[in-house]
Amino acid sequence: TPEHLKEIYDFAVQLAKDAGKMLMDGVEARCGDDSTPSTQQEHVEKDSSVDIVTQTDEDVEAFVKDQITKKYPSHDFIGEETYSKGSSRDYLITTAPTWCVDPLDGTVNYTHLFPMFCVSIAFILDSKPTIGVIYAPFLNQIFSACSGQGAWLNETRRLPLIRNPVPPMPEQAPKGCVFSCEWGKDRRDVEDGNLYRKIESFMNMAGEIGGRGGKGGMVHGVRSLGSATLDLAYVAMGSFDIWWEGGCWEWDVAAGICLLQEAGGLVTTANPPEDPATTAIEEVKLGSRLYLAIRPAGPSATETGRQSQ
Ligand code: IPD
Repeated sequence: TPEHLKEIYDFAVQLAKDAGKMLMDGVEARCGDDSTPSTQQEHVEKDSSVDIVTQTDEDVEAFVKDQITKKYPSHDFIGEETYSKGSSRDYLITTAPTWCVDPLDGTVNYTHLFPMFCVSIAFILDSKPTIGVIYAPFLNQIFSACSGQGAWLNETRRLPLIRNPVPPMPEQAPKGCVFSCEWGKDRRDVEDGNLYRKIESFMNMAGEIGGRGGKGGMVHGVRSLGSATLDLAYVAMGSFDIWWEGGCWEWDVAAGICLLQEAGGLVTTANPPEDPATTAIEEVKLGSRLYLAIRPAGPSATETGRQSQ
């Protein structure tokens, strides 16, 4: 029921705040001050030297999981670190009510004290992200959304931030857009596999690569924050126009998908259509690992012109 969802939403927001505080406690311990010595943040490599986990990832996930299983014992739980430890489930998201959690997205940023890290908590119903809460404690930004209730920054500002009216996409998009994508963890030179390839392919989508004079498909900028979750939050905010990523896991995107959809943006699996003649946009499916997100956009000048004729 809506009341039940509201209760779960409030619980998720509080849980994200508590988890974010744990992340900041880890930051404080590392920084120390003139009277307290700083501690080291050790990390362990998982599948590769760029796939790392810290004690904080594990502590935060254990805390979040414990709180959820106490409050909602019948719900399923999927967390990045729990999964890494050898879950045997191939297909992660079922139709059961499921919590999908990344205790620390942007682990590399966290270990380097770059502020782009967050905790991401999603509640999934019938395989659809229904509640999403993302908290970036170093930035003091909490993003939250519940199906049908809109998307919010710090619980007071509705997303997208510019909304009266929401600006259209640039007429010649992706010219004039800010495009974001990530390095990911697989650095081999394979299709969709690394940042060079993603940018090159995106530029090709844009047609002619503009020269200095700004011809063709010149994007305004390309960004790589080091947190797929925050990328999606900034697409929902309207700061990034386009995000495209291959290789994400469910916990990287579940909360962000809910946030973006509630903000009125678009997220799709970015897979080539089975029927090349179709123009239908494929509904996003968790587990696709390949995603394309477009910010909330008002009608273009052409559409407005058409409507008023
Ligand atoms: C990673 C970050 C990174 C993205 C990877 C993610 P983690 O998550 O979001 O930006 O490129 O695909 O797995 O390991 O920091 O939680």
